[in-house]
Amino acid sequence: MGVKMQTVYLKITDVKKEYDYIKQAAQTLASGGVVAIPTETVYGLAASALCEDAVRQIFVAKGRPQDNPLIVHLADASEVDKVCMDVPKSAYKLFEAYSPGPLTVVLKKRELIPNVVSAGLDTIGIRIPSHPVARGIIKVSGVPIAAPSANISGKPSPTTAQHVLSEMDGRIDMIVDGGTCDVGVESTVVSLAGDVPVLLRPGGITLTQLEAVLGHVELSKAVLSKFSDSEKVAAPGMKYRHYAPKAKVLVIRGYDNDVIPFIQSKLHEAKKQGRNASVMCFDGEENYFSDTVCVSYGKRDEPSTLAHNLFDVLRGFDDTDTEVIYARCPEKTGIGLAVYNRLIKAAGFNIIDV
Ligand code: TXA
Ligand code: MG
Repeated sequence: MGVKMQTVYLKITDVKKEYDYIKQAAQTLASGGVVAIPTETVYGLAASALCEDAVRQIFVAKGRPQDNPLIVHLADASEVDKVCMDVPKSAYKLFEAYSPGPLTVVLKKRELIPNVVSAGLDTIGIRIPSHPVARGIIKVSGVPIAAPSANISGKPSPTTAQHVLSEMDGRIDMIVDGGTCDVGVESTVVSLAGDVPVLLRPGGITLTQLEAVLGHVELSKAVLSKFSDSEKVAAPGMKYRHYAPKAKVLVIRGYDNDVIPFIQSKLHEAKKQGRNASVMCFDGEENYFSDTVCVSYGKRDEPSTLAHNLFDVLRGFDDTDTEVIYARCPEKTGIGLAVYNRLIKAAGFNIIDV
């Protein structure tokens, strides 16, 4: 890490009223700065995709491995052609159906986009975010914007400006506070660069929604299981330990009638041994675990609430002295697949079937 810099903090609640702030952020990006911006998924660490130095600063600020490519954010689907080539019709159909929104499409990149952005790949992920602050800043900057999630590599993605501030203060030029992110998990990443469409990372646009436009979509192995280093990695980001709080996370899977007593017995055991254990449960289950730190991450039947709260709840455990977190397992349907994917990664694939 180089010299600690002064990080400017701007809060935007109304894009029209605070248009000067949009311009200030856009200007910082256009002149090679690094700015954390709100999106509808998670906060992003943004820089001009055309400025190699700025993009390198993103990797430094995050402590991100060099072989993990960044997503390029555009204001409008009409700009896809400027940064990508051989764009299939299906890509435009997807953007038309689900953009602006929580969707990233991997396509063949043009020379214009430097290799540092794509981590040497000949493809890039393209995303058109819907958050009005992100849209405003990207549009006014006039450049394609490279942006990974604004967390230190390996930590849960930030869904509030406070999350970003706690990790990035003094490491980047500016943080734009645009409130709490709606979706709460990162965008769906689908590759259209190969022979068949492949879902590389589940997110707010569901597999069913993708298949409604594309027909059959293959599910990358990395979504549901651990990747060995020797395997060819289609989504390079998927091979790293991710979303992890300080405590060990264990995902407990099974019927309610089995899972709840199992967790209770584990808490009892921990207590006898003088260890601090806690629970990540669903709404209404707090009473089952009354004697311990127990935080609900949403409604079991509304996976969008689980997605919305997941990272904030995971981060919250870092403020406790818990050593192990027993987590309830979400259903894999709809956006639940994204929640499941992030949770098993946070757990380092430690799943206990009961
Ligand atoms: O919602 C989001 O997508 C957020 C916001 C800020 O837009 N961004 C985000 O970026 O999550 P990041 O860098 O944290 O995750 C990008 C993921 C990684 O898993 C990366 O490996 C994958 O997308 N990816 C990026 N470019 C790729 C490419 N050309 N081919 C395959 N995977 C790619
Ligand atoms: Mg990330």
